[in-house]
Amino acid sequence: MRSSVIRRASALTRRTNGFSSNVAAGIRFASGRWTADKVPAGPADPILGLNDAFNKDTFEKKINLGVGAYRDDNGKPWVLPSVKEAEKRLIEKGWNGAYQKEYAGITGIKEFNDASVLFAYGSAGKVIEEGRLAVAQVLSGTGGGRLAFEFYARFVGKNVPIYMPDPTWANHLPMAKDAGLSLQTYRYYDKNTVGLDFNGLCEDVNNAKDGSIFMFHACAHNPTGVDPTIEQWKEISSLLKKKNHMVFLDMAYQGFASGDADEDARALRMLVEDGHDIILAQSFAKNFGLYGERVGCFSMVAGSKNEAERLLSQIKILIRPMYSNPPIHGARIVATVLNDPALNKQWYSECKSMADRIIDMRKLLKSNLEKEGSTRNWDHVVKQIGMFCFSGLNPEQVDRLKNEYHIYMTKNGRISMAGVTSKNVEYLAHAMHQVSK
Ligand SMILES: Cc1ncc(COP(=O)(O)O)c(C=O)c1O
Repeated sequence: MRSSVIRRASALTRRTNGFSSNVAAGIRFASGRWTADKVPAGPADPILGLNDAFNKDTFEKKINLGVGAYRDDNGKPWVLPSVKEAEKRLIEKGWNGAYQKEYAGITGIKEFNDASVLFAYGSAGKVIEEGRLAVAQVLSGTGGGRLAFEFYARFVGKNVPIYMPDPTWANHLPMAKDAGLSLQTYRYYDKNTVGLDFNGLCEDVNNAKDGSIFMFHACAHNPTGVDPTIEQWKEISSLLKKKNHMVFLDMAYQGFASGDADEDARALRMLVEDGHDIILAQSFAKNFGLYGERVGCFSMVAGSKNEAERLLSQIKILIRPMYSNPPIHGARIVATVLNDPALNKQWYSECKSMADRIIDMRKLLKSNLEKEGSTRNWDHVVKQIGMFCFSGLNPEQVDRLKNEYHIYMTKNGRISMAGVTSKNVEYLAHAMHQVSK
């Protein structure tokens, strides 16, 4: 077995013009030029690839339930009025003021970082007052997660397992793998109850090697829409403590689960108050509607101010060769909104209106399925929270929805509820009933 691996590896190592290529199917030098003729086409991204297929579809009633981006009841993207107002104020400050285009430092804009951690840690803000946070503005949630994984790879070790929920957001797996981490999963979702597999989760936390890394979605779990209750979080927290596990929290939906950003941060705050030195990746893509601006915040709780300073120096060393420094515009918008009491209040109600519309669509979808005569139990559609509904539809049913009804969703049956509107919900319920009856 081993020798065949070695033979294969050496067969793949070709000498070309003094350079050697040891990648499976890389660029090669042939017939006097560097050619990519052996580089195969990669598969389309499972989520973003859906968008391309949807865009090519010319059917009038087509529905895109793939990408997790908020849409209003007309199916249109929504720029939050608080965001527009902040943008207007920034421009009014002029080119030499807040609207200048100079580089930010490696860790981004200070006002943003300060506001961002206060927004997340809130009542657990003792770690902020004590200077125990190492904070960096990053490239949205993906950038924060990837930075965390690079940090673990360098300072914890690539052989220490990182446990992710099964299932999780599709991008988590390649993010950790590309950072070289040893990926494991823990039980999270119970198909039979269409809810949390709490016992399975606890068993897996317990059975993992002491000092492993555990990743959790801080709220509005993607794709299942199933979160632990605060009492369950308490139990998880003490188990994690008992096992000396490290905790990574991905918070991409603060405000989207309940409509209240403070409520959605409860698990995070409780974990910090329980003494977990977490790493947190915040995204402002969904809750502020700033998707393409790539606004995010990485923060890490340290044992002391001095430790936080040392950690931050290493975080800068990780960031600098990757992208030097983060983009400034979106971060300034978030800082302006969060730091102005009136705009801040306005944002809370706008975020709530997004969450409320999604909750209304859950109710409408369930009642329309019942109207269609579906005898299946669709309670989970209204019980799950956040942007997604893990419908329970299987890959064949998902294919039929696409091929027969022009309705697009990921193969695992995940529905982005933001794509459901009062105008398309009847058609959607009809199609779901037809493929699932
Ligand atoms: C669970 C989860 N984490 C992180 C992200 C990162 O998103 P972004 O990089 O756009 O902030 C997403 C986006 O869909 C997500 O669902």
